[in-house]
Amino acid sequence: MTKVNKLKSALILGVTGQDGALLAEELLSLGYKVYGGFRRGLSSKVWRLEELGVLDQLEMININLHEPHQVMEAITTIQPDHIYHFAGESFVSDSFHQPYSNIAANTVGTLNVLEAVRISAPDARLFFASSSEIFGGTEPGKILTEESKFLPSNPYGVSKLAAQNLVNIYRNRFGVHAVCGIMFNHTGPLRARNFVTRKITYNLARLRIDGGSAMVLGNMEACRDWGSAADYVRSMPKVLAVNAPHDFIFATGKLTSVKTFLRLAAEAAGFVPIFENEGLSSTCRDKPSGQKLAEVSERYFRVIDTPPHVGSSARLKKTINYVGELTVQNIAEEMMKADLDRRTDGRLNV
Ligand code: GDD
Repeated sequence: MTKVNKLKSALILGVTGQDGALLAEELLSLGYKVYGGFRRGLSSKVWRLEELGVLDQLEMININLHEPHQVMEAITTIQPDHIYHFAGESFVSDSFHQPYSNIAANTVGTLNVLEAVRISAPDARLFFASSSEIFGGTEPGKILTEESKFLPSNPYGVSKLAAQNLVNIYRNRFGVHAVCGIMFNHTGPLRARNFVTRKITYNLARLRIDGGSAMVLGNMEACRDWGSAADYVRSMPKVLAVNAPHDFIFATGKLTSVKTFLRLAAEAAGFVPIFENEGLSSTCRDKPSGQKLAEVSERYFRVIDTPPHVGSSARLKKTINYVGELTVQNIAEEMMKADLDRRTDGRLNV
């Protein structure tokens, strides 16, 4: 690891994921020396960094957040000005099957980062990606703020809330400059395929170009406050530049159903989607050809699905003048284009 003193430096934990890769691109464009933390064997896929053309500009470091000494050693050596912590488990429904891994990765992993910062890099500024899942089923129908009650309804939400509480303790008790981004669902072309938005665009590209069987979804009526990952990530360095650390909601304040997202993406792929039947019998077809695009199976319904809620980014707007640029329709169109291009080029494993 080489430390370049004249540049501002940033360490991104979880650099191979959607947000990590986008932030790496952003920080490089801002002139930062960027260290990319990844966990070998688990999330060592670098396709996003390759697609963005930034892999060879990063210094990649294998850091397993479960190993306190590894985290400590990396942070001590690099002495980053900024640390962005995205590493951990992010698929909500897995957390019911692997609660221990969730808590270990998201809560204990974050604790190890906080301890390393407190002891060896007390001047570093830390951004921690928390989640809207900390709200769970709280205050139905209300627009959620940073002051809303936290009531997680799955182990993932618990792991993020515990980590967020630790961040707050280290900020208040030890003076660590640590910020939590309470991230509502955010997506874009670099989303992983297990999340519903990318599952939809990946499969629509397959159906458009190669045909085959319809995609199988879970609850099409489920709704989320979907924002643009690119919009959110671009504002993170601005949040860390603010001298008073705080927690910030990243949200659009608008709800969209899975069905609407499917319609927007299908239209962007050149289909004319029509929906038939209800519940488990719901289907989506292309009207002119009759091609079946999507159907529903109980297999993808969740034991407990977090109810729809929207967040207010008022604090973010007030503090850094945040304005999101992309609507859900823009996002669906961008994602659709990326997946059609990838399939045309034969890049199917991303
Ligand atoms: N994954 C998936 N697959 N979800 C489906 C499907 C399907 O086939 N069909 C319907 N859904 C519904 C889910 O039940 C859920 O209500 C919604 O689509 C979104 O699911 P995901 O895309 O898996 O995301 P999430 O909202 O559970 O979690 C994401 O957002 C959180 C922040 O709000 C993740 O990015 C989390 O890491 C993040 O914290």
